[in-house]
Amino acid sequence: MKFFIDTANLAQIKEAHEMGVLDGVTTNPSLMAKEGISGHERVIEHYKTICGITDGDVSAEVIATTFDEMVAEGEALAKLHERIVVKVPMIKEGVKAIKYFTSRGIKTNCTLVFSAGQALLAAKAGATYVSPFIGRLDDVSTDGLGLIEDIRTIYDNYGYATQILAASARHPMHIVECAKIGADVVTAPLSAIAALLKHPLTDNGLAQFLADYKKAASQAAIG
Ligand code: E4P
Repeated sequence: MKFFIDTANLAQIKEAHEMGVLDGVTTNPSLMAKEGISGHERVIEHYKTICGITDGDVSAEVIATTFDEMVAEGEALAKLHERIVVKVPMIKEGVKAIKYFTSRGIKTNCTLVFSAGQALLAAKAGATYVSPFIGRLDDVSTDGLGLIEDIRTIYDNYGYATQILAASARHPMHIVECAKIGADVVTAPLSAIAALLKHPLTDNGLAQFLADYKKAASQAAIG
């Protein structure tokens, strides 16, 4: 399973990249705003900077909501870097735009997906990635991971090549469960990725090993 980081924060992208586990980056307009990145030129520069840090795909979301505008915006984004993936919302115009981008070899990420039917449409349009938002479904008492399972079944039934990119993952168990179900990619904040490292028995075990090593070394020095 690929790990994407869900942020526009450059320090966090670098940290995940340096851990050696990063396969790509997802952003959205809210994440860009959170980093204070606004205005067309700054947004474009920020995408280029992110592409310089990771060697994986970088999702850049269109702001447009009509077919013609999405096509113009998406084509411009795709020209920024070969690893830019045009992120398109799951609306009728978006599905048309995904079909258009696919026919021209431009990679897409169909975002704001909350149902199996939407995921089916994204696959039929040829999306490279589909992004079901598991955390936001959990927030409204709906089974986010259950949706990943349903999409896995549907895509496997028909051999759709669209990759399931589990989005809105909030904690380490979301990541682990996505891996068990067979999501192709999970995108999560650095905190959730880093939390996978943690286990008290690892910390206690390491402290014990180091203490025993020191003890043996000081006994050897005395003896
Ligand atoms: C997906 O690509 C989105 O950027 C993201 O995962 C949304 O996560 P959130 O629900 O935590 O905002």
